[in-house]
Amino acid sequence: MIFEQFFDKISCTYTYLISSGRGREALIIDPVIENTEEYISCLKNLKLKLVKVIDTHIHADHVSGLKELHEKTNCTTLMGEQSPSEIVNMHVKDNEKIKIENITITSIYTPGHTDCSYSFLMNDRIFTGDTLLINGTGRTDFQNGNASDQYHSLFDRILKLPEKTFVYPAHDYKGKKVSTIGDEKKNNPRLQVKSLNEYAEIMDNLNLSNPKMMDVAVPANIKGLSLKEFSKSTK
Ligand SMILES: [Fe+2]
Repeated sequence: MIFEQFFDKISCTYTYLISSGRGREALIIDPVIENTEEYISCLKNLKLKLVKVIDTHIHADHVSGLKELHEKTNCTTLMGEQSPSEIVNMHVKDNEKIKIENITITSIYTPGHTDCSYSFLMNDRIFTGDTLLINGTGRTDFQNGNASDQYHSLFDRILKLPEKTFVYPAHDYKGKKVSTIGDEKKNNPRLQVKSLNEYAEIMDNLNLSNPKMMDVAVPANIKGLSLKEFSKSTK
């Protein structure tokens, strides 16, 4: 299997490229528009055909590369059915099988960070978007986020997976690339709670400032626009 993890230094976003082997079909999760050429040259070097590109949710801190990759490779753009994106051509529900050749990925609806947040399970690993981060969890105070939904997404879905399952999040701000369900259960300070109320109390009192790009990134990602196209559309 081919598995590449890209890192965007500006937004600290992880992007993942998956394929069953050289010369075969590939899938990308959470691409950043500015890094499109890096993904394209990786695909070229490995002789891969990009067939699907996924966003785990509408991002507020960077512009997604979904539309750009679709235009360059004609791949299918995929998000959960709750996504307000206007450029997605395949919507999935909870517990759907997404296939590229002999790889199967299962969609898991994990709302809380946003109401359109999904995680994606592939064999021994899960891509958790901003629902479960390494030593943290995604904020729940905008984009229809909800601490109670996130508690259920975490404790009733993601953390029920085997402890050895690898956790690949959409971001890390301290250079950590991967964790496991077992490590997060043990060490993640947000998960050391005894009740939904205790979790909501923490999440509702984080008092974080909004991401710098939020006012631009969210509407641009819904419409599938680049920053340039978005600023033109608002003039
Ligand atoms: Fe996010």
